Amino acid sequence: MTKARVLVLISGGGSNLQTLIDASRAAESAYDIVHVISNRPDAYGLQRAEQAGITARCLDHKAFKERSLFDAALAQMIDEVCPDLIVYAGFMRIMGADFVSRYEGRMINIHPSLLPNFPGLHTHTRALEAGVTIHGCTVHWVTAGVDEGAIIGQAGVLIKPGDTPDDLAARVLVQEHRLYPVCVQAVASGSAKLVDGRTMLDGKPGGIALLG
Ligand code: GRF
Repeated sequence: MTKARVLVLISGGGSNLQTLIDASRAAESAYDIVHVISNRPDAYGLQRAEQAGITARCLDHKAFKERSLFDAALAQMIDEVCPDLIVYAGFMRIMGADFVSRYEGRMINIHPSLLPNFPGLHTHTRALEAGVTIHGCTVHWVTAGVDEGAIIGQAGVLIKPGDTPDDLAARVLVQEHRLYPVCVQAVASGSAKLVDGRTMLDGKPGGIALLG
């Protein structure tokens, strides 16, 4: 079986990157992580990649005066690698429409809430303020609207009385580490596809659900 070539984009600690690296080393994995790019030079995820023997590079967004120039430089770096799939793993940049449309259907993100609730930042604080009792994380296709692409999979976390945003962040992160390898495997193997703005799972509309 030819494995899908995955390029991972990061901005920080890279704990999701690490779980994807570990999962990719299983015999049954449908993908190899072939390249990692960070937009921040101090991202610890760069060291994780190097320790795993994966080529890692930084493209510092601060070196670009305009967003569109950063987007074009990143697209050029990506196209040099020719990946089958681009995985955002804690990649904290909003990319322009040209960049997003270039890779639509082969670019995915993980977000720390049960979308469509709480797109954007500070999701754990907002979930507590809203009084929801179930929270979690979502893997979705990257499309032009921020955190709006069709859902590939979700993992739920029960909110307990007295939970703080940090408590929730820690429990959701555990679920992110369960969910992301399953979703990347589904996309890399061709089981999950983006068709007319919906996720098709083995040919039927649907997605992956995990309960913590
Ligand atoms: C995760 O919570 C992810 O959902 C969010 O940023 C965090 C990244 O964590 N977008 P890490 O860099 O994978 O450790």
